Amino acid sequence: MSACLSEFNGKRIIITGPSKGIGKKMAHTCAKQGAHLILASRDVDRLSKVSEECIRLGAASARVIAFDASVTDDCERLVEEAFPDGIDLLILNHAWSLWQHMDFGNPRANVDLVKALAATNYFGYVAIAQFALPRMTNVPGSKLLAVSSAASFVPIPSKTHAYSASKGAINNYFTALRSQLRIAGYRSPSVTLAFLGAINTEDFSVVVKDSLINKSTVSAESTG
Ligand SMILES: NC(=O)c1ccc[n+]([C@@H]2O[C@H](COP(=O)([O-])OP(=O)(O)OC[C@H]3O[C@@H](n4cnc5c(N)ncnc54)[C@H](OP(=O)(O)O)[C@@H]3O)[C@@H](O)[C@H]2O)c1
Repeated sequence: MSACLSEFNGKRIIITGPSKGIGKKMAHTCAKQGAHLILASRDVDRLSKVSEECIRLGAASARVIAFDASVTDDCERLVEEAFPDGIDLLILNHAWSLWQHMDFGNPRANVDLVKALAATNYFGYVAIAQFALPRMTNVPGSKLLAVSSAASFVPIPSKTHAYSASKGAINNYFTALRSQLRIAGYRSPSVTLAFLGAINTEDFSVVVKDSLINKSTVSAESTG
């Protein structure tokens, strides 16, 4: 398909967590279709490489913004520095996980882990969405995609209690946001949740070696 006929041609797209894995793949896909991209996470060196790849693949532009999703001021600055006139597509994709068992001998560590993952995985999504909404509600056809996980419904038995909880919070928040927007009379953005199964990213394949997950359930496609 030619770039001119593609869905993302000329669209203003923010992707969080595109320095590797699934976010990088999504950046490449949007780039091939001629999008204007903001690539946002912490690792500027990796982001700069992805930005160069995106330009080579056909992006109309690809700008790097360094930010830490656990810091609310960073989330606000990201949106301010991105597209002042409007955002067509916001992809909330960043996340991390420690893959750590609950330690019943150390309740404070259990609390701290849940809070640390929630700060980035959940509150980071909430903050960016809230700061971005004023630049999306006036853009016809704008879209918000929040990347969640099948682990939000069925926590993987071995190590993902804090991760699963952060993804479950995302599910409820963005479902509520969708209806709040409609109740308030906004026709855009649409709000979509993506419930991903196991995907063989660079980092995930390391995790799989050390977990109870049956390797046969992991998607054969590598995003590394
Ligand atoms: N892979 C799977 O099997 C799987 C399954 C279900 C759902 N998912 C979901 O899919 C999404 C992508 O997963 P992935 O496997 O591609 O992950 P990944 O390879 O580990 O990449 C995570 C991305 O998040 C960014 N990030 C982490 N902490 C951040 C922070 N504090 N501030 C800003 N950016 C931060 C990282 O960039 P920097 O290091 O540059 O900050 C990186 O670009 C995540 O939401 C994940 O929960 C993945």
